[in-house]
Amino acid sequence: MTRHLTIITGASRGMGLAMAEQLIDAGHDLLCISRSHNDALGARASARGVRCEQWPQDLTRTEAAAAKLETWLAGREAGAYATATLINNAGVLPAVGPLAAVPATDLSDALRVDLEAPMLLTSAFLRATQNWKAQRKVLNISSGLGRRPMASQAAYCAAKAGLDQFTRCVALEEAGRPNGAKLCSLAPGVIDTDMQIQLRSAEPDRFPDRSTFIGLKEKGVLSSPAVAAARVLAVLARPDFGTNPVADVRD
Ligand SMILES: NC(=O)c1ccc[n+]([C@@H]2O[C@H](COP(=O)([O-])OP(=O)(O)OC[C@H]3O[C@@H](n4cnc5c(N)ncnc54)[C@H](OP(=O)(O)O)[C@@H]3O)[C@@H](O)[C@H]2O)c1
Repeated sequence: MTRHLTIITGASRGMGLAMAEQLIDAGHDLLCISRSHNDALGARASARGVRCEQWPQDLTRTEAAAAKLETWLAGREAGAYATATLINNAGVLPAVGPLAAVPATDLSDALRVDLEAPMLLTSAFLRATQNWKAQRKVLNISSGLGRRPMASQAAYCAAKAGLDQFTRCVALEEAGRPNGAKLCSLAPGVIDTDMQIQLRSAEPDRFPDRSTFIGLKEKGVLSSPAVAAARVLAVLARPDFGTNPVADVRD
């Protein structure tokens, strides 16, 4: 039987959970990394006879997370998989407000989870799988906010812009290697998750664009996590995945 391995961060809720559910239904072996365990996800995997490990790992602890992933991958059977994929999906918004008003811990945690962790996990993944025969892919979940500035979102916007640029750089590196990995930093559209609730609930005098996010919800233009996940996974499955290292599901 052809086996597919997918490592996904932030699969405990939101779009990451929906992607994990759909990957389990497709029979992928999964490693899920987030702070909390999702019991229903574990039950779904068991019911379908699919391997699904869930690690309780805080991704602000970037070096520990990357080292643990590298060790775990070194323990896999290199020839067992037809594809090996890392999806850097976990994301966090710091407190919504102008830079000078956001606590340093919030800024630092957001930069770690949204940019540093994806870079270190990608580095560990590429190193650990470099001699695998599997087709290797890295999908970084970006945002439209990495491509256009927004007041009171500086750390999130900067982290997502950094995610796009590091993806472009590593895609160039991998293009020159035998069985080089394909990479894409993909904006998933606007999704009806906790992150949107956080934006709509921001203090009005601290967030000039708050009404835009309220309007998106009222007009019903947010995608459900399941629909957004299906769109993202469809991009991942395309034969030309990675040809454009920075993309948007809406293109
Ligand atoms: N929602 C949108 O409209 C939208 C738009 C554009 C891009 N995105 C991007 O899409 C991705 C998924 O977003 P979402 O809306 O599904 O988010 P969400 O519902 O808020 O879920 C965030 C996920 O990230 C994990 N996470 C957060 N902090 C973490 C930490 N310190 N360590 C480990 N895991 C952590 C959470 O798990 P735990 O809490 O269990 O740790 C959770 O599984 C993110 O990268 C986001 O930036 C979302």
